[in-house]
Amino acid sequence: MEVLRPLAGLCVLLGFVAAALATEVDIEAVDARSSYIVHVAPAHAPGLPRRGLRTTRAYGSFLRDHIPADISTPAPTVLYSYAHAATGFAARLTGRQAARLASSSSVLAVVPDEMLELHTTLTPSFLGLSPSSGLLPASNAASNVVIGVIDTGVYPEGRASFAADPSLPPLPPGRFRGGCVSAPSFNGSTLCNNKLVGAKFFHKGQEAARGRALGADSESPLDTSGHGTHTASTAAGSPAADAGFYGYARGKAVGMAPGARIAVYKACWEEGCASSDTLAAFDEAIVDGVDIISASLSASGKPAEFHADMIAVGAFRAVSKGIVVCASAGNSGPGEYTAANIAPWFLTVAASTVNRQFRADAVLGNGETFPGTSLYAGEPFGATKVPLVYGADVGSKICEEGKLNATMVAGKIVVCDPGAFARAVKEQAVKLAGGVGAIFGSIESYGEQVMISANVIPATVVPFAASEKIKKYISTEASPTATIVFRGTVVGRRRTPPSPRMASFSSRGPNFRVPEILKPDVTAPGVDILAAWTGANSPTGLASDARRAQYNIVSGTSMSCPHVSGVAALLRQARPEWSPAAIKSALMTTAYNVDSTGGVIGDMSTGAASTPFARGAGHIDPHRAVNPGFVYDAGTEDYVGFLCALGYTAEQVAVFGSSANCSVRAVSSVGDHNYPAFSVVFTADKTAAVRQRRVVRNVGGDARATYRAKVTAPDGVRVTVTPRTLRFSARRRTRKYVVTFARRSFGSVTKNHTFGSIEWTDRKHSVTSPIAITWPVSQVAEM
Ligand SMILES: *[C@@H]1O[C@H](CO)[C@@H](O)[C@H](O)[C@H]1NC(C)=O
Ligand SMILES: *[C@@H]1O[C@H](CO)[C@@H](O)[C@H](O)[C@H]1NC(C)=O
Ligand SMILES: *[C@@H]1O[C@H](CO)[C@@H](O)[C@H](O)[C@H]1NC(C)=O
Ligand SMILES: *[C@@H]1O[C@H](CO)[C@@H](O)[C@H](O)[C@H]1NC(C)=O
Repeated sequence: MEVLRPLAGLCVLLGFVAAALATEVDIEAVDARSSYIVHVAPAHAPGLPRRGLRTTRAYGSFLRDHIPADISTPAPTVLYSYAHAATGFAARLTGRQAARLASSSSVLAVVPDEMLELHTTLTPSFLGLSPSSGLLPASNAASNVVIGVIDTGVYPEGRASFAADPSLPPLPPGRFRGGCVSAPSFNGSTLCNNKLVGAKFFHKGQEAARGRALGADSESPLDTSGHGTHTASTAAGSPAADAGFYGYARGKAVGMAPGARIAVYKACWEEGCASSDTLAAFDEAIVDGVDIISASLSASGKPAEFHADMIAVGAFRAVSKGIVVCASAGNSGPGEYTAANIAPWFLTVAASTVNRQFRADAVLGNGETFPGTSLYAGEPFGATKVPLVYGADVGSKICEEGKLNATMVAGKIVVCDPGAFARAVKEQAVKLAGGVGAIFGSIESYGEQVMISANVIPATVVPFAASEKIKKYISTEASPTATIVFRGTVVGRRRTPPSPRMASFSSRGPNFRVPEILKPDVTAPGVDILAAWTGANSPTGLASDARRAQYNIVSGTSMSCPHVSGVAALLRQARPEWSPAAIKSALMTTAYNVDSTGGVIGDMSTGAASTPFARGAGHIDPHRAVNPGFVYDAGTEDYVGFLCALGYTAEQVAVFGSSANCSVRAVSSVGDHNYPAFSVVFTADKTAAVRQRRVVRNVGGDARATYRAKVTAPDGVRVTVTPRTLRFSARRRTRKYVVTFARRSFGSVTKNHTFGSIEWTDRKHSVTSPIAITWPVSQVAEM
């Protein structure tokens, strides 16, 4: 203690100097307010009526008690109080006020508000969902289930996806207590019905961050972006005959759970989703009594610790109340450790392709043809080839507006590199410069993948390698020419590449926070998905684009997530007694890992086989998921045990609403969390073996069942399952087993990760879990 004194003195002094400087120089910064989420110890939280009472009153006296007079101005403003997704409130506070609250024993944590980012019909048939047999009729299309969609709101007017459905009961299920609000731009009483049963919005965090009011016109659940309309209709849209995007993907569009009711919670606006608004949306969805929450959003960058991640906190409380929370893995692939929403209580979804393409080939003057993809909807090009130039040679390689030389572009097709702006903006630039078409290259790390979006001029997107060849042709040919041949919608196994394939953009494992928990969990359709769209904006988002489309085709894990939300709704109704973890387990252990040609699901970024870090346990298979055999269950206690195993303090665990004191619990290891997948990390120390324990519960039709393990061991590991046989009976519905992962000799592995699986079979079911091994980089042998 003696030694520390001078240091302590120094700190005080420095603190004083800094404070003095701040007062003189930067008084505004000290007193400037920003938004924080304050987690309050439950014992100190004021009692709130059931409806949360989102007013300044609930926490007003709390703030007066906890912030001394000398730092009480400017006075704090409470944005929200939380009682369901969290305990506490969001408020505008000065840095000093926030620091003061953080040091109070009644406060568990003070977390700065941040902007989260948002991460679309053929897909029902691709998933094998048919109205006449299987899960869809078995679940009555989930007519007794409400899906809460936290997103950019909804644009229901004129969209059949959100029309009243005469085949459904007139009212939502009795336990649902939500509803629709009305606003100048959104008349809840006319727009809501027995399909769209809830529509609310949360904007206080957004306004605080913007520093100005949104304006009465936009204060409503109305979706002006299209994203939320798309995700909601994908999850549970009513059937819409003859849907399509200007001739592309024509057909009946229907959500995965056509009977499920939709409640939208708008927390995302043009700049993104404030975490305070998102937490308020979770809070409201929980108290409204939704069954499923679909959240296609996350913080950007590396995932925060779970107690500082408001989606993880809100989702924890939702899952504790039996609500399944589906979340997208993010679009930051194909790099490692990019997956978001990585806590074990999320059902985290990656994105993959379906057996459909919108083909548009770039055909060069020399006859070479490069397959590409396009959603161009105007007059097609003739067969006549026109002059071809590369953006870099005519003013801007990325085709930036104002930089392309009109003299050199007029009447030509321009090749543009990726980056900086949306494609439609570049197309607009080419058009303004007099260009007649564009060929876009994709980014190198995307490999075989191209991303498409609505077009304003004839254009196609080709893979990176193809664009390099086209540029080579331009640089070596005296008068290069090209045309674009639009082939429209191509569907089917014979006419399209193998499917599914993992999207390059789909975020990957390993899990950045807890490598022992495999993420993402599953994959689902997320490339070139058709679903409903806003009428408040053009499909390109360009002001100059006068079109308004009822449906749009877009890609992202934002699109794959609601597919799984819809399927989870079907399972919720078909198997009402299953917990969120059981539903997830069923989807994971029955997922498939082969494509339409029988090979391992490919990865578009490499052109080779994908790994469980990209596809999780595999592609969802709704029909098999309803009858998985046995499940790996987990409840609130298991998740608290998991947080304890991570070494969280009592205060950090309390943020999740638990009064557990980790230091008096028998601490298990993170790897023992009852997950339907195995992820093992071998460290540089020479630990010879890692053990993981599991408990499984028989949910098969027969009380008596005998399962045997079949192991496919990853390279470099000997996998032992004990016991190798699980016998269930009416009295023994749950069984335990242990897996030992033992290293073989050092230096035998040439990869950083190796993969395998454990499959349990009883002749009727097969329950499969992936195994992922992470090796210490120092021990990976050179090839
Ligand atoms: C909503 O529409 C109903 C029915 O047309 C009408 O009676 C009501 O006044 C409208 N509400 C608002 C807030 O405009
Ligand atoms: C555009 O290109 C023409 C023909 O090469 C050239 O004469 C002109 O100077 C260029 N304009 C600009 C602004 O660079
Ligand atoms: C947790 O338990 C430990 C050991 O009994 C005790 O020292 C500590 O005060 C407890 N913490 C809380 C927050 O109850
Ligand atoms: C393993 O990972 C390290 C560090 O990320 C990387 O430098 C190395 O190339 C990787 N090795 C293999 C075989 O992929």
